[in-house]
Amino acid sequence: MAKISLILATFVCALKATIATDYTGDIINGHKVVTRVDVGDFPCGSKTKLWLQTNKYKIGQSYYVPVIVARGCNCSDTENRFLMSTGIHGDEFNGIRVVHRVLNDVDLEKLTGSIVGVPGVNVNALYEHTRGYYNSYDSGSFTNVNRQFPGNVTNAVAGQKFSAMMWDGVFANNNYTAAVDFHTQSTSGSFVNYVYADLTIPYVRRMCDLTGADAIKIDLGDGTLGALENVLDAFGTPTITYELGSPLSWQKDQIQRGYDYVFRQLADINMYPPTTDPEAIATYKKQLANIFYGTETVGSSTTTGGFLEIDLKLNDRVLNGTKIGTLYNVFGEKIEEYHSEIDGLLYSLSTHPLREIGAGVFAAIHNSTDPDCANGC
Ligand SMILES: *[C@@H]1O[C@H](CO)[C@@H](O)[C@H](O)[C@H]1NC(C)=O
Ligand SMILES: *[C@@H]1O[C@H](CO)[C@@H](O)[C@H](O)[C@H]1NC(C)=O
Ligand SMILES: *[C@@H]1O[C@H](CO)[C@@H](O)[C@H](O)[C@H]1NC(C)=O
Ligand SMILES: *[C@@H]1O[C@H](CO)[C@@H](O)[C@H](O)[C@H]1NC(C)=O
Ligand SMILES: *[C@@H]1O[C@H](CO)[C@@H](O)[C@H](O)[C@H]1NC(C)=O
Ligand SMILES: [Zn+2]
Repeated sequence: MAKISLILATFVCALKATIATDYTGDIINGHKVVTRVDVGDFPCGSKTKLWLQTNKYKIGQSYYVPVIVARGCNCSDTENRFLMSTGIHGDEFNGIRVVHRVLNDVDLEKLTGSIVGVPGVNVNALYEHTRGYYNSYDSGSFTNVNRQFPGNVTNAVAGQKFSAMMWDGVFANNNYTAAVDFHTQSTSGSFVNYVYADLTIPYVRRMCDLTGADAIKIDLGDGTLGALENVLDAFGTPTITYELGSPLSWQKDQIQRGYDYVFRQLADINMYPPTTDPEAIATYKKQLANIFYGTETVGSSTTTGGFLEIDLKLNDRVLNGTKIGTLYNVFGEKIEEYHSEIDGLLYSLSTHPLREIGAGVFAAIHNSTDPDCANGC
């Protein structure tokens, strides 16, 4: 981790030197096109919808990423700023609705400081209906954009250039006080309301509590190098990856939890008055008391292809030995059974009955007893 921080530090200096919103002069659907957003350039008491122009695709046109900048009526150069990113994976939608709703509802009279929302980062993947950025070289490949930050525009691969342009255009430079990157489980799976967070970063533990999530994976991020969360953490912005349930859907309950978190988060950094709604306060109190923090996840994958039946549901408690599901062949004969190997909480399940060999079945979370695992493993 130390080595990574050093490499990142050289980027910080390179990028901090030249900030200012960079307008291309184009207007699309009534909104200005930029290649870089500097929050400080927008007037206090304004909500601005922009298109961030990124790399060109194969017919020579650019991808335009929607960005919304909301500045409170009380704004300044030393204000607090909150970043919401969503849709880095193109099959994950709940966070997009959270950003829509927060930025639609936020009252600029009550807002101190600024919020930046990106309702759908990976325009290519949303268009292609895929998780990764589809590169159309030769027979095609996918880039996991959330492993590429801060990126490198001189890299050959389109998805890598895209990540670098997103980083440079909106994620870097704006000195965010805190940030959330909304995700969901990938296609064919489902998560509880779930957070990845590096608790060694100051303030991140508090952010986790503010989510009221079902489960928090304590994690140094060393298994996911280049994830936005970990790179923002390394650049000085405490950040969480917030997994809002299932892919390919808009789940109203998960969206509401993301939305309520954002307003608690804003209140916690004095950007917004806290809610006075007794029902919302009571709901959060209950959620906070139920958060399951764990350092390790343990699950099963299939060792052959087949049809999967799951016995349990998300958020069920499991014990070492609890049966989770069964794989059948096409004649309905049992070919495999899956059992938990730990006492923990069932936070991830496969939702697709057809399972390829090696596909995930379930995962449970617990605290490892290995002392080396105290900050996650
Ligand atoms: C504006 O925000 C600052 C914190 O950035 C705060 O100290 C100040 O009291 C606020 N002013 C008003 C009028 O709310
Ligand atoms: C960016 O990518 C280019 C081409 O792959 C490489 O030569 C260069 O060293 C990379 N820069 C950084 C800072 O990683
Ligand atoms: C970033 O924000 C912090 C506090 O929010 C402030 O102390 C610092 O001066 C800011 N840095 C820049 C470069 O604006
Ligand atoms: C796991 O450990 C953390 C920190 O040591 C603790 O806060 C948390 O309550 C533990 N989780 C469970 C489920 O006991
Ligand atoms: C789970 O149970 C098996 C035996 O049934 C045992 O070998 C294993 O150590 C147990 N695992 C844990 C984490 O307790
Ligand atoms: Zn994701």
